[in-house]
Amino acid sequence: MSEFRYPDSPVFYRTLDRPLPKIVKGEGCWLIDERGKKYLDASSGAFAATIGHGVKEIGEAVAEQMSRVAYVNGTAFTSEPAEALAAELAALSPKGLDKAYFLSSGSEAVEAALKLARQYWVESGSPSKHKIIARTPGYHGNTLLALSASARAHYKKLYGPWLVDCPMIPAPYAYRCGCGGAQGCPACSGNALEQTIREQGANTIAAFIAEPVGGSSTGASVPRPDYYKNIRRICDEHGILFVADEVLCGAGRTGKWLAMEHFGGVVPDIITMGKGISGGYVPLSAVITSRKILDPIAKGSGGLKHAQTFSHVPSICAAGLAALRYIDKNKLVAAAAKTGLTLQKKLAALADLPGVGDIRGIGMLAAVEFVANKKTKRAFPRALKMAEAFTDNARGAGLVVWPNTGHADGENGDLAMIAPPFVISEAEIDELIERFKNALTVTLEQIAAKGGRK
Ligand SMILES: Cc1ncc(COP(=O)(O)O)c(C=O)c1O
Repeated sequence: MSEFRYPDSPVFYRTLDRPLPKIVKGEGCWLIDERGKKYLDASSGAFAATIGHGVKEIGEAVAEQMSRVAYVNGTAFTSEPAEALAAELAALSPKGLDKAYFLSSGSEAVEAALKLARQYWVESGSPSKHKIIARTPGYHGNTLLALSASARAHYKKLYGPWLVDCPMIPAPYAYRCGCGGAQGCPACSGNALEQTIREQGANTIAAFIAEPVGGSSTGASVPRPDYYKNIRRICDEHGILFVADEVLCGAGRTGKWLAMEHFGGVVPDIITMGKGISGGYVPLSAVITSRKILDPIAKGSGGLKHAQTFSHVPSICAAGLAALRYIDKNKLVAAAAKTGLTLQKKLAALADLPGVGDIRGIGMLAAVEFVANKKTKRAFPRALKMAEAFTDNARGAGLVVWPNTGHADGENGDLAMIAPPFVISEAEIDELIERFKNALTVTLEQIAAKGGRK
């Protein structure tokens, strides 16, 4: 086999149109392929590898737990790692949110959280409450309910007949919003939620779901400081649960354990976490909630109607516990805050480069949004596949970034997310910036050669 690509390999790859380098080792922020080429992992893969590659403690904890027991089912037994991990997550969450349900992926956590919201209302005597309000742009996963609550046209198109209708409000996205983040703007203040609740009828709505700080959908857009106070007030006034999807922005990514902590003590009803809670070492996600939500179910049907074989898995929880302890021991959330400032400052210096429209973010979560015209914010035409070309050029230069598209109007508009492991050093940030600049120069030259910047 000359290359790892479809159809030469027996792997059903996620991308069937290109070869993939085979990674054989990771160290800190670096990935090394079988040919010895080194890649600076500036997106922690898909925002998951928060604590860096090659941390031995995680594997040791998993092996130790696996040597004790292979598997127990969560309906019949509990385990020490599940108990300990739940206790540590409770200690890190807002007061009262002290019950954690473990699954594998962020999509599963969102799916379970939305079902939990529905079940809460049914078992509390409000069976008409079923709708989920979400935001556009926004992303909550690829299982069908999580996808229904996402605003990603290119993922949803194919499966439209299977999806449920989720009313959408505009996400706070200051760069693309005409208002520029002003106080009175319905999208940027959160007031759009109230309007939609009135239109839909509060008695039909179970929950509102939002990413506290934007992931790739709004490119690390940070809402106004009073945004979630307003959202909480609106949800309380209309009897609607607030689900904070911290799958991407949680677990220290923004420089605080939860991104919600940036918004003045607002407490959601349900939190979903994933990606970074295991440092990316195993598929682990969690739904975190309170007795207020669980008591009616405990007194009623007796359990969440969301059965999965691999929930509360002891060895997976052991990995999560080891990751949390490693984060604590090495003060990695504080590191994300401190080194995050350096990252944001050095990225901000790229603002004058051609093709760069906006640079934003918080902590170890940042985005560079690309535009064909800086003044008008006109995007590159989708046909140029700018974000994809940039990502390919970056990978060629040994830099891993996360692309996203559709930012200007749902179709056109490109950005690259930068979200390195929290252990990145200042010298590595400098290396990241150099490689980023080189990849951008090459990409813009390719576009100019095609006549795309005219
Ligand atoms: C905010 C958010 N929620 C949910 C998910 C889904 O997580 P997963 O891909 O682990 O299923 C993602 C994935 O990127 C996400 O960013």
